[in-house]
Amino acid sequence: MTTTLHPSKTATKAGAAKPVAVSAAYFESPVGTDVHVIEWVARIAAITQPDEVVWCDGSAAEFDRITKLLVDQGTLIRLNPEHRPFSFLARSDPSDVARVEDRTFICSERSEDAGPTNNWVAPAEMRTTLNELFQGSMIGRTMYVVPFSMGPLGSPFSKLGVQVTDSPYVVANLRIMTRMGSDALSRIRGSVEWVPAVHSVGAPLGPGQQDVPWPCNPTKYISHFPETREIWSYGSAYGGNAILAKKSFALRIASVMARDEGWLAEHMLILRVTSPKGRTMHVAAAFPSACGKTNFAMLTPSIPGWTVETIGDDIAWIRQGPDGRLRAINPEAGFFGVAPGTGPKTNPNAVDMLWGNTIFTNVALRDDGDVWWEGLSKVAPDNLTDWRGEAWSPSSDSPAAHPNSRFTVAADQCPSIADDWQHPDGVVIDAIIFGGRRASNVPLVVEARDWNHGVFLGATISSEQTAAAEGTVGELRRDPFAMLPFCGYNMADYWQHWLDVGKTLRASAKVPRIFQVNWFRTADDGSFLWPGFGENARVLEWIMNRVDGQVGAKETALGYVPTDTGLNIEGIEDVDLEQLFAIDRDAWLAESDDTEGFFGTFGDKVPAELYGQLETLRKKLRASN
Ligand code: GTP
Ligand code: SPV
Ligand code: MN
Repeated sequence: MTTTLHPSKTATKAGAAKPVAVSAAYFESPVGTDVHVIEWVARIAAITQPDEVVWCDGSAAEFDRITKLLVDQGTLIRLNPEHRPFSFLARSDPSDVARVEDRTFICSERSEDAGPTNNWVAPAEMRTTLNELFQGSMIGRTMYVVPFSMGPLGSPFSKLGVQVTDSPYVVANLRIMTRMGSDALSRIRGSVEWVPAVHSVGAPLGPGQQDVPWPCNPTKYISHFPETREIWSYGSAYGGNAILAKKSFALRIASVMARDEGWLAEHMLILRVTSPKGRTMHVAAAFPSACGKTNFAMLTPSIPGWTVETIGDDIAWIRQGPDGRLRAINPEAGFFGVAPGTGPKTNPNAVDMLWGNTIFTNVALRDDGDVWWEGLSKVAPDNLTDWRGEAWSPSSDSPAAHPNSRFTVAADQCPSIADDWQHPDGVVIDAIIFGGRRASNVPLVVEARDWNHGVFLGATISSEQTAAAEGTVGELRRDPFAMLPFCGYNMADYWQHWLDVGKTLRASAKVPRIFQVNWFRTADDGSFLWPGFGENARVLEWIMNRVDGQVGAKETALGYVPTDTGLNIEGIEDVDLEQLFAIDRDAWLAESDDTEGFFGTFGDKVPAELYGQLETLRKKLRASN
């Protein structure tokens, strides 16, 4: 039997699909599925024309079926279960290894609502482009329907979504990264909001055509429609380009929801730190991609008696609780973490959590069927196969693992995960940290004078670019709030939103303190001035003491810094505090000019408060030394 489908008026649109005859199999949706979901799936199927539609229930059996299929078709290599049980290695196409920021679009009705830091295309124009691209894009493939919840099912913070994708690799990742399956689907009812996300690798298969291990398309579009809250992604299967629940939904679309609903969707880790006296504090910290969120979230403190527990490593959804205080959840269920640099010294918790049940992407393969990456051990094992599938030796001129190679693993597997990390009410945030990767200028830690000054610190972060996105690694760029690639609306409006949230907090409750940190300052010889990793607990100790009013601070033009004896450096050798905290007045005046230029790119949208903060900074700098 075949049925003619008509584009639904209620479901979201990528443009009007012509009524297309599709197989009745498309209607085998789970009993009780919301009619809008069914209509939408049918309409996307009519456009993309997959051979088959599979509704995912999120079960372990289903995951097993999908990974077996991926092994059979050569996308996944099963690792040696003696070393890495229930684990897999994927090698991407060498052209599809990171987020593509220049192919990421915010398609708001008005260009000023995307702002100068986003690529903007008018929605009607983008819909025409996408409609053409997606036409028949799933021919010869299976379309998976993946319902998911961001945040614990039923939490007041949580939001629902459905991703359709023709990539079973993406389905396997979504199962680890989200609460995926029947429970999420059954919560979509009537007027309950859900975000539709359409994903295709853009590689239809003709009759009898042999598939490749990593289908993708040189043409890529990662498109967001903030007003209608839709996501359309074409051409890539890698990370944030394809796991649409993550950056596309939980940051770009969610930041727009958050603006409209009075909360915050942030590129932040969440951790709990406990002092030897049993004092507990929660911190949310924003760092740009591949700048240490996972390491910080799983930190093993070097100072005796301290513990850190992990709540999240990448995204925080933050809102005012009934008591007026800021509370945060981690909307994700797993970690999609950077592999290189993850080792027993830098992040022992991560090394432990990767014992099994992990999908590795673009790391190196050992001859014993285990995996390896730079930083896992000092010496590389013999007979490695690199991420491209070629024989590798230490004399090779490129790394064995791609610099943006990643692991996908359930959060529950992390030894430092907090028992209550899925608490539906989240945790109370006592301090917010902004960080970046800065070889110069930015001191180890600075405390903002107040919330608005903290917003200025967040808004003016610069960071050296990493391999997490296509582009020039090491280039210094502005990355306000570590949200440059992830804010779904005009960044200047986002700053105003942060100022507004501060106003609400001041009116009703305790306002979290805001800090800026930099683990990456270097000496003249290029070596890091601060040992970092487990030693970062010392900075957490100072922050806790500041929050509790237990320790004084020195006022500088940039904000408060530790007094000469304020930072506990007992037991670490050769820390040059003078260099770590040096403030080069001329360099900062130049940086202030640069900030003015940066603000200028937003026209008159920049909140006057931030210009006021900039003038205060300049005045204080001129008055210093
Ligand atoms: P995304 O998942 O891309 O959002 O990034 P992330 O912020 O979670 O990145 P991750 O924690 O994986 O960052 C890894 C990089 O940061 C590696 O290059 C680490 O060596 C480096 N790193 C992390 N912590 C420190 C530190 O304390 N000091 C120094 N020098 N490097 C650090
Ligand atoms: C990032 O780049 O900030 C990530 C990885 O967390 S991805 O999901 O690929 O965006
Ligand atoms: Mn990230």
